[in-house]
Amino acid sequence: MRVVILGSGRGSNAEAILNALQQKQLGRAEVVRIFSDKPDAGILAHGAKYGVPASFLDPGPFKTKFDDEGEVRYIEAINACEPDLIVLAGFMRILKPRFIDAFANRIINLHPSLLPSFPGLDGIGQAWRRGVKITGCTVHYVTAEVDGGPIIDQAAVRIEKTDTLESLEARVHAAEHALLPAVVARLSEEAKI
Ligand code: GAR
Repeated sequence: MRVVILGSGRGSNAEAILNALQQKQLGRAEVVRIFSDKPDAGILAHGAKYGVPASFLDPGPFKTKFDDEGEVRYIEAINACEPDLIVLAGFMRILKPRFIDAFANRIINLHPSLLPSFPGLDGIGQAWRRGVKITGCTVHYVTAEVDGGPIIDQAAVRIEKTDTLESLEARVHAAEHALLPAVVARLSEEAKI
């Protein structure tokens, strides 16, 4: 199963996937390419470290969406990788139907809350401020509804009295680092490729 990872940030979840691959714990999945919409994103360094081609791809002038040319640039570059699965690992851009339809049922996203609670930006902070006692992370298929596609799997994290926002963030991220590679491995085993 050929996997392309898209990310905008430090790339700890991409690294968790690459590490699982190195440990032969990613099922039948291989990571063929990493793209980032930020030229200085940490995720690009993880590609170099694990021997996976990783590069900045210009998304266009907007902050949270592609412009027309950027969208086409991404669709063509990803298509050239012949991907079976596209993993959004901290890719902070809203995707529109043309992009989603180009890779129908092949895009999954990681979100740092138990969806459908706390979609959108800062899922961990939203849960923290709302005072819930259990939060977590979700991997779901991407549809045109932001953070609203079918849920594939989730992991729960209990918020303890002793937690700070920082300690909660660390535990949600740790849960993500276990959940996302496990989902990719499982999808690769289930895939009829
Ligand atoms: C992760 O916590 C992921 O859930 C979140 O961005 C972070 C990326 O971290 N994604 C979203 O909030 C998407 N709405 P990373 O760059 O270290 O993998």
